[in-house]
Amino acid sequence: MYRDRIRMPALHNKVMTAAAAAALIHDGMTVGMSGFTRAGEAKAVPQALAERAKARPLKISLMTGASLGNDLDKQLTEAGVLARRMPFQVDSTLRKAINDGSVMFIDQHLSETVEQLRNHQIKAVDIAVIEAVAITEHGHIVPTTSVGNSASFAILAKHVIVEINLSQPLALEGLHDIYIPTYRPTRQPIPVVRADSRIGSTAIPIDPGKIAGIVISQQPDSPSTVLPPDEETQAIASHLVRFFADEVAHGRLTRELMPLQAGIGTIANAVMHGLLQSPFENLTMYSEVLQDSTFDLFDAGKLAFASGSSMTLSARKHAQVFADFNRYKSRLVLRPQEISNHPEVIRRLGIIAINTALEFDIYGNVNSTHVGGTRMMNGIGGSGDFARNAHLAIFVTKSIAKAGALSSVVPMVSHVDHTEHDVDILVTEQGLADLRGLAPRERARQVIDHCVHPSYRAALNDYFERACARGGHTPHVLRDALLWHINAEETGHMVAL
Ligand code: COA
Repeated sequence: MYRDRIRMPALHNKVMTAAAAAALIHDGMTVGMSGFTRAGEAKAVPQALAERAKARPLKISLMTGASLGNDLDKQLTEAGVLARRMPFQVDSTLRKAINDGSVMFIDQHLSETVEQLRNHQIKAVDIAVIEAVAITEHGHIVPTTSVGNSASFAILAKHVIVEINLSQPLALEGLHDIYIPTYRPTRQPIPVVRADSRIGSTAIPIDPGKIAGIVISQQPDSPSTVLPPDEETQAIASHLVRFFADEVAHGRLTRELMPLQAGIGTIANAVMHGLLQSPFENLTMYSEVLQDSTFDLFDAGKLAFASGSSMTLSARKHAQVFADFNRYKSRLVLRPQEISNHPEVIRRLGIIAINTALEFDIYGNVNSTHVGGTRMMNGIGGSGDFARNAHLAIFVTKSIAKAGALSSVVPMVSHVDHTEHDVDILVTEQGLADLRGLAPRERARQVIDHCVHPSYRAALNDYFERACARGGHTPHVLRDALLWHINAEETGHMVAL
């Protein structure tokens, strides 16, 4: 029945129910599952695992590429299955469990997880659960809408469960480029020299003898939840487009710019939409997640090629793209996340990296992860992989949050993900601060003059003047530096009204 999907006849007798496959996962195991930004996650087996745990409790350490869709993190958290979780998540139920300390969350640069696995620095994967469109005649796995960490999980795990998802079109086959770096310290250079370089195989090469079970599933990826651009995100995009145009005018960029990376979420997607009405053309992306904006840019004739690790689309865009996937396929590649996010490749290609901050401070330090310095939002994701190694490290955010109760520009960030040394450009709807080549006091002037919301500008100027009066290379009034965060915690507003 599934001969076009399971092409190695010897594997046909491995087909089993999701419940039988979930029974192969035992208490205390480390499980590596496919899934990256709500795309291509194994679905039936984790759901069956959550069901089983309600009757017979068990705990596992769960690694994925990044976030999962279909409320899987929610279901696994509610069933008490998760002891440890890495390296990224976006689920509100799991977020709560992380923040009350019941799930140990390891928030990690997305390129590093499999590097640590390969080098035995973290506990080995006992079993991998990988969603696939097909298993080839050699027993190799063809992933679906994401590659993420799936290839290394499958290669390094002792056993592999494959979920063949019939809702994922066979047209996806050929899209992937599976390349695994060799071992350190004798590793050869990773031969990606352009966004469209193809350097590996189209399926994950594993010993088919490791395949312990095959589950047939039907459930589609959940659609992306990004909101459409609004006035503020459009303003952010306009500031960036003007900045890029200025870089072109000064001969620092061409009209093709450099390969673009855009982070997850509403703001990054809106910024990429902003390029639709721009003078730039023949653009390329070397990114992690390809969102709706990628395909809108293709349709507008602006984008020549996009490399990513996953495709996460709204329902409307998904229907449109997959109605005629061959129109896009030759201009797309999905890679393992350690390759899409590899520092070596990011440096080589000269990526323009655009990621979203929760908040940044007057000196350019960025907090992407911790609300109020303590409560985990989602995780650093790939933003650090890109920012530190990019041609231009750009962070965007709206200048205020929670209806103005919080300023996203603060005297000192409550948690640092990207240090002042990694950040080139900061943008809010108010304007753009170009921090390149500036000392801390000069950076603060740029940030206050261009990025702060008017309702916080006087307070920030006052802080900066008092800090400068005390002196120092990076002036601060330490007693007051975190006062805005303390105010927010105690009163809900950063600056006492
Ligand atoms: N303080 C507290 N909360 C803030 C905030 C601040 N300074 N700024 C934003 N928020 C809140 C918003 O109010 C919103 O909350 P809600 O979900 O309760 O409405 C939430 O953060 C998301 O903000 P939004 O403005 O909708 O932006 P987004 O969808 O683009 O997400 C991040 C922004 C920072 C949360 C998201 O981009 C992220 O997790 N980034 C880190 C990982 C990353 O950069 N990955 C990129 C490579 S994968």
